[in-house]
Amino acid sequence: MAVQQINTTPYFRASSTLITILVWFLLTVSFSHAAQRDVDCLRSLTESLQDPNNSLNTWDFSNTTEGSICRFTGVDCWHPDENKVLNIRLVDMGLRGEFPLGLSGCSSMTGLDLSSNHISGQIPNNISKVVGYLTSLDLSNNRFSGEIPADLANCTYLNILKLDHNQLTGPIPYQIGNLNRLRTITVTNNHLSGPIPHFVNSTIQADSFANNPGLCGEPLPPCGGPSVKHRTPIVIGAAVGGVTVGALVFAVGMFFFLRRVARKKKEEDLLGNKWAKSIKGTKRIKVRYTYAI
Ligand SMILES: *[C@@H]1O[C@H](CO)[C@@H](O)[C@H](O)[C@H]1NC(C)=O
Ligand SMILES: *[C@@H]1O[C@H](CO)[C@@H](O)[C@H](O)[C@H]1NC(C)=O
Ligand SMILES: *[C@@H]1O[C@H](CO)[C@@H](O)[C@H](O)[C@H]1NC(C)=O
Ligand SMILES: *[C@@H]1O[C@H](CO)[C@@H](O)[C@H](O)[C@H]1NC(C)=O
Ligand SMILES: *[C@@H]1O[C@H](CO)[C@@H](O)[C@H](O)[C@H]1NC(C)=O
Repeated sequence: MAVQQINTTPYFRASSTLITILVWFLLTVSFSHAAQRDVDCLRSLTESLQDPNNSLNTWDFSNTTEGSICRFTGVDCWHPDENKVLNIRLVDMGLRGEFPLGLSGCSSMTGLDLSSNHISGQIPNNISKVVGYLTSLDLSNNRFSGEIPADLANCTYLNILKLDHNQLTGPIPYQIGNLNRLRTITVTNNHLSGPIPHFVNSTIQADSFANNPGLCGEPLPPCGGPSVKHRTPIVIGAAVGGVTVGALVFAVGMFFFLRRVARKKKEEDLLGNKWAKSIKGTKRIKVRYTYAI
């Protein structure tokens, strides 16, 4: 028994060590690819955004320890020892530049808050390909311009969408209303116009849409009124209508006036005994008021 134990223990120890190393190696290889994508995602963010206030000075990519990015300012991971980004919150850091498209590498990210910076340009029109699993997106208080991309409606997990205080123009795409998990949407203080979409599974209050001079429809006043966008056709319509009515009134007036003149003239002519002249005159007048009408 003792002999056997002496003989097998070193062998057993060696093989278990080997297995441990093998398992560790396999796990590392299988996870490192995904983890490296998230590291590259954050690195690309620092490359596409300017950081004049050096707010991201804790973002040190030289430490390659698993979980090191989880200590970066504004980064939450799913697990503190695994390079897998859950949320990015970079609020009021003086960041500039355009929406970081490299965020597509953070494929497990569910929350993105870039509010209160100076980020400009358009919201990417393939945003669902970049950050398609977000439940919360906050781009408020930046300098985003252009239209709200309809592709946001393909970010089907969105609960919260904040786009207020930017320079967005055009309509709110009606497809956004089909986001059935959406609870909060704010687009106040932009330059949006057109009808507010119907939201399938939530009631959004009017103050979420305030300070967009061209927006209309529930819960704002109905779109039938003279909104900025529709004012020009109405003015043209009124002008055309006015001119038509004026012309009609004028024509009818002329009709009666000329008929009276003709009658009077006929009476005078009859009195003056000028037959031929009177017939010619009536004909000419008839032709004239036909043209007038
Ligand atoms: C690298 O990151 C790990 C995890 O955050 C930390 O424990 C370690 O101290 C860091 N190493 C250096 C050299 O900063
Ligand atoms: C960035 O730095 C500028 C100049 O020092 C300062 O005025 C501004 O408040 C800072 N912004 C933020 C968000 O820290
Ligand atoms: C999104 O579109 C931009 C160009 O507008 C492109 O460079 C980028 O690769 C696209 N991203 C994805 C994830 O499709
Ligand atoms: C959603 O994605 C599909 C497939 O990429 C695309 O065809 C469709 O136009 C997108 N929807 C919107 C509203 O952009
Ligand atoms: C709408 O919201 C209710 C709860 O408010 C939820 O139970 C339901 O699943 C939602 N519908 C859809 C289509 O997501």
